[in-house]
Amino acid sequence: MSRTPAFPRVTAPQIVSCKAEGRKLVGLTAYDAVFAGLEEESGVDFLLVGDSAGNVVAGHATTIPMTMDAMLFLTRCVTRGTSRVMVIADMPFGSFQVSPEEALSNAIRFLKEGGAQAVKLEGAGYILPTVRRLVDAGIPVMGHLGLTPQMINIFGGYGVKARTSEEGEKLIEDAKALEQSGCFSIVLEKIPAELAERVTKALKIPTIGIGSGPNCDGQVLVNYDLLGIFDKFKPKFVRHYMPGAELIRDAVASWVSDVREGRFPSDEESYDSSGDTIKKRVKK
Ligand code: KIV
Repeated sequence: MSRTPAFPRVTAPQIVSCKAEGRKLVGLTAYDAVFAGLEEESGVDFLLVGDSAGNVVAGHATTIPMTMDAMLFLTRCVTRGTSRVMVIADMPFGSFQVSPEEALSNAIRFLKEGGAQAVKLEGAGYILPTVRRLVDAGIPVMGHLGLTPQMINIFGGYGVKARTSEEGEKLIEDAKALEQSGCFSIVLEKIPAELAERVTKALKIPTIGIGSGPNCDGQVLVNYDLLGIFDKFKPKFVRHYMPGAELIRDAVASWVSDVREGRFPSDEESYDSSGDTIKKRVKK
């Protein structure tokens, strides 16, 4: 995707135009500078600083406890580690539900203090005036429908959403309303593939699928899932592209035994008083 020298990062209009061009969008979550940089180098279009950090980074059972301060810190880490991708900050539970004005103040913080270019918020219905308020103020908004994890206490689980035809029709109407309210794209999480395809055809803005089949305009995954680092459970829609957890455990276990058995650090990994590493002693 080409970028202007004046604005080096991928923009919301560029994301939207990918749909007409038939170019699949690819996004991934990131929560720190090192991973964000590596993911950017691998060619993704956008990085989502997801509130899934609540699960994979903070170790909570849900995303509910994530705060503005925590999400701002992670967003700053991701923007510092990248220069090309669009960084989208996920608005945590409680930061956008109270009122459009409070949502706007919080969203502004993500752009000004976090360096993000857009925010994502879950839901439709009463959220629509908030989306319009943010967009009117100059903040691109990504919507999120289907399995919206911040509703876990209402849903009672993380199963596939919108399985009946009434729920499917409602979701299509919600997606159209989010588009009308100014969203530049919508995440569709864990809905039937056939419904995701219908939503995708009904909208001009791109749909970004996660567990919603192949016919969305793009895909997003949690980076710890893609890399197989989070292996406590594997949702059926996740593909591990490497056995990350196994590789990490093996590498750390090798280091533990090298330390215990005196193989680490070596002379080449230690300094002498000249400030250089200890040279091998030449045997006479
Ligand atoms: O928080 C998150 O990581 C998300 C994606 C999974 C879409 O919302």
